[in-house]
Amino acid sequence: MTVIEKLTETVGFLKSRTKMKPRIGVILGSGLGHFVQHMEVELTLPFGDIPNFIPPTVDGHSGNLIFGKIGDVNLVVLQGRLHYYEGHPMETVVFPARVMALLGIEILVVTNSAGGYGEGMNAGDFMIIEDHINLMGTNPLMGPNVKELGPRFPDMTEAYDRELIIIAERIFRSQKTFFHKGIYVGVTGPTYETPSEIKMFKSIGGKAVGMSTVPEVIAANHLGIRVTAVSCITNLAAGVSQNKLTHAEVTETAKKVEQKFCSFLTEFVAKI
Ligand code: HPA
Repeated sequence: MTVIEKLTETVGFLKSRTKMKPRIGVILGSGLGHFVQHMEVELTLPFGDIPNFIPPTVDGHSGNLIFGKIGDVNLVVLQGRLHYYEGHPMETVVFPARVMALLGIEILVVTNSAGGYGEGMNAGDFMIIEDHINLMGTNPLMGPNVKELGPRFPDMTEAYDRELIIIAERIFRSQKTFFHKGIYVGVTGPTYETPSEIKMFKSIGGKAVGMSTVPEVIAANHLGIRVTAVSCITNLAAGVSQNKLTHAEVTETAKKVEQKFCSFLTEFVAKI
């Protein structure tokens, strides 16, 4: 099956399960899945029950597609995502984001856990992503262009919508939640970085590093969807931190700040 055939099948299946037309799509990163408890949930579908979706393999990612509301805003939420390091082709990694786009969302809100190395960063801080540097060594749009999805050479000048960044800043300030703004460097993982890699990322202007987000943001931009993204700095990056990095630390920090994160996200989706 071609990508378009698969997308058509999946979108057709979802439309047969719910009449809800989501305006906003949300991708929840590691340990940030509790946001759905703030929603009035209409339908929860495990990835395994959706044609052409593949269940995630990482701890802290549950793997559900959820339709619901916050106030009167219709949302579709990915609780858990697929990563390139799991061995999936990029086309599989971005498939859920493309499905959300074809369900008619206007805005995609992407969240993730990231290692921080910007000045003054601490574990538990948030960072609004202003731009990214793709160091994954590939791109989800490689291969023949699917013109039904977008152009061959998509513009990425404003991959992260400026207006949405301003709204996000306002909300963090009004909630008195400390935040950073900066560039996210996307890598494949699954190893954490070496201290020398982190020095290089800092020298090219980055403030955070992670193993997700870049593919979905590229796919959404291809489709002309407005994007905003927020990182939870779950740990200081290698060499900045005195400690060795562990996935347990990442999920623990995400859990600690989950409440603040949910407050932000709840107000954000209501205001955009
Ligand atoms: N590096 C890469 N990805 C991450 C990190 C990190 O330090 N923390 C959470 N995701």
